[in-house]
Amino acid sequence: TFAGPVAFLKSAPALHFLPDPTVPEVAFAGRSNVGKSSLLNALAGRNGLARTSNTPGRTQELNFFDIGDPVKFRLVDMPGYGFAKAPKDVVKKWRYLVNDFLRGRDVLKRALVLIDARHGIKEVDRDILDMLDGAAVSYRLVLTKADKISAAELAEVTERTIAEARKHVAAHPDLIVTSSEKNEGIAELRAAVLEAVSV
Ligand code: GTP
Ligand code: MG
Repeated sequence: TFAGPVAFLKSAPALHFLPDPTVPEVAFAGRSNVGKSSLLNALAGRNGLARTSNTPGRTQELNFFDIGDPVKFRLVDMPGYGFAKAPKDVVKKWRYLVNDFLRGRDVLKRALVLIDARHGIKEVDRDILDMLDGAAVSYRLVLTKADKISAAELAEVTERTIAEARKHVAAHPDLIVTSSEKNEGIAELRAAVLEAVSV
């Protein structure tokens, strides 16, 4: 369970810095600024565990968080993608790091792909969805920042996102709607993580 300590383990800017694959992992992916670090903090019930910011592209490494003592599973905060002004070599490095990680990490049980509820799935998101499909890593789509739109807009983007999920082989057909700000959907997300690591 999430009861017990949550601790930052390490940051891996390249594959040879990855921690030993000793426990199951669940990774968080999404556009820069989508709210990955905020959601991780909400899940862990600890503000300031993962660094959040208004500067897109803050997280450029794979960040590992240990859950439990002894460690039962890990959460991985993946570097965000799709921010404007990203230099070409940064984008290239991101692709290699993420693709190699997704393809080679046996202990990676699931990914959660975060989508900003205000925007829905964009072209840059399809890139990671295709990478996950190709790597055969099952994933769930998670709408973030639901507090920022109206109920009608939320219903519309939910329907649109579910339709898109159905086109991807490795995607779970349902999605989880969240707001870190309002603590909404956090319990459901927690259950999805626990189910994936089955602890
Ligand atoms: P990178 O590390 O740059 O890829 O960003 P990230 O995906 O980790 O986003 P982060 O959690 O740092 O959040 C980005 C901004 O969105 C911050 O200013 C957060 O406070 C804000 N934010 C995150 N989640 C929510 C939410 O549910 N509601 C609202 N209103 N704001 C949010
Ligand atoms: Mg972050």
